[in-house]
Amino acid sequence: MAKTDSLKPTAVIVNGGAWGDEGKGKIASREAKDAKLVIRATGGANAGHTVVFNGKKLGLHLVPGGIVNPQATALIGQGVVLDPESLLKEIKDLEDAGVENVEGRLKISGRTHLVFPYHKVKDQLEEKYKDNPIGTTKRGIGPTYEDKDARVGLRVYDLLLPVKKLEAKIDVATRMLNQLFKLNGITEVDVHHLAELYHEYGKRIWQMVVNADILVDEFVKAGEKIVVEGAQAYRLDKDWGDYPDVTSSNCVTPGALIGAHLNQKDVKTTITVLKAYFSRVGEGPFPTEQLAHIKNDKVLKYEPDEAYVGDVIREAGGEYGVSTGRPRRCGWFDAVLVKSSKRALGTDYLCINHVDTLGQIGKTLGSVKVCVKYRYQRRFIDYYPDDIELTGEVPQPIYVEIDGGWDVPRDLKKYDELPEKAKFFIELVENITETPVKYIGVGPANDDLIIREDM
Ligand code: IMO
Ligand code: MG
Repeated sequence: MAKTDSLKPTAVIVNGGAWGDEGKGKIASREAKDAKLVIRATGGANAGHTVVFNGKKLGLHLVPGGIVNPQATALIGQGVVLDPESLLKEIKDLEDAGVENVEGRLKISGRTHLVFPYHKVKDQLEEKYKDNPIGTTKRGIGPTYEDKDARVGLRVYDLLLPVKKLEAKIDVATRMLNQLFKLNGITEVDVHHLAELYHEYGKRIWQMVVNADILVDEFVKAGEKIVVEGAQAYRLDKDWGDYPDVTSSNCVTPGALIGAHLNQKDVKTTITVLKAYFSRVGEGPFPTEQLAHIKNDKVLKYEPDEAYVGDVIREAGGEYGVSTGRPRRCGWFDAVLVKSSKRALGTDYLCINHVDTLGQIGKTLGSVKVCVKYRYQRRFIDYYPDDIELTGEVPQPIYVEIDGGWDVPRDLKKYDELPEKAKFFIELVENITETPVKYIGVGPANDDLIIREDM
C-alpha cells in the first residue's frame, strides 16, 4: 500500500509569541469569521482572551473566542484543563451578551481533564513552599496537570458517571493530597460534597460532551477551515520557556495540536501573535523589561511626572490581567526572542497588535525601542539563551531606537498608508526575525487590523 495521502490542510494555528496577553483572541476571532470549527487546545482559566461582540467586550477563559461566529462549532479540546464552574459562568455571559445557540455549538472533549477546588488550594500551597514563587494565576492549572501525569486526574467523561462511582474516583485522587492538607492545617477535601456538585455539573454539560477525535476528523475530511486558538505563549511553555517560571502545559504549536486532536499534516498556517511592546505577568526573566511602580502585583501611587517607562507603556496599553487583574510588567519589543521562537512555533506570519499604542508611547517618551541583539556572558548573541537560570544573568538588550512617535488614523486598512515610522518599526522586526508581519493591529476593535493580502 502507498503512503497515506495527505488531505489539503485547513487548520490555522494562532499562538502567543512571548509571555501571553498578546491579543490572540482578536486575530483568532477574525480568522474564525469563515471557520467552521474553532478549538481551544491548552491551558485553562489561566488564559484570558478578550473578544468584542456587538460592541461589548467579553473576557473569555475557556470557550474559544470564535464562538461569536454563529456558523462555527467551538471545541474545548483534550489538552485543556476545565473548571466547570468557570465554564458555566462563561456560557451564561455569552448568552447574556446575545451570542446565539452557545450550548448547541459548544462541544467538550470527554477526555478533557477537570479542575477541582482542591487543585486551586494546592496551587497556593505549592507557591507558599517555594523560595521563588512563580506568581501563578492560582487557577489550579499546575496541580490539575500534575494529577493528569500522575494518572489520578478526573476527566469530563467522569462527570457522567453515577455519583457513587464519581465519588470513589475523587476519593482516590485526593488520598495523598488530604495527608498534605492535614499537615498544613487545611480542611480535608469533602469528597461526598464534591461528587454531588460535579455530578450536577455533569447534568448541565452532558449534551456538549463528545468524542472529539470523530468530530475533528469530520471537519478535516470535509476540508472545512479550522482555527486553533492558542493560550499562553512560547516563553510560558513548560519545555521551551523560562523553566521554572512557566505554565504546566506545552502551549507551542505541537502541544496545541495534541490538545486540539489534530496532527502536523492538518496545519495550513501558523500565526504568531505579539504586541508592539512586550509584557509579562508573574515572575521570571524579561530582558527588555522597563522599570515601573509595581510592587506585590499592585501599582504604587506616583505623580504623573514621576512615571517610569514601564508605567507609561502599561498605562498606554491598559496592561492589566483579564484573568487576575494584576498589573503587567512592560518593556520593549524583543526581536531576538521572536527570532528564537520560530523553531518552537513554526511561525508562517506574525501578527503585531498595539502598533497604534506604540506610536502613542513614542509621542509621550520621545522615542521607542526594539531589541535587536543581546549582550550575554560577555558576548553579543542573536538568540534567547537557555541557561539563564544557571548563570543568573538576564541578557542585556541592544536596541535600535526610533525617534518620536506616530498617530494611526482610525479605520486605516492599507499598509502603505501607515506613518513612515510605524512602517520602519514593522520592517525592522521583519528583518531581524526573518518573518513576514502580515497582520497589524491598529486599534482595540476586532476590525482595527491591517491585513497585507499580498503576503
Ligand atoms: P493568555 O492565554 C499571561 C503565567 C502566570 C504565571 C505562569 C504560571 O491570556 O495569554 P499558571 O497559573 O499557568 O500556573 O501560571 O504563567 N500565565 C499567563 N500569563 N497570559 C496567560 O494566558 C497566562 N497563563 C499563565 O502569570 O507567571
Ligand atoms: Mg492572559
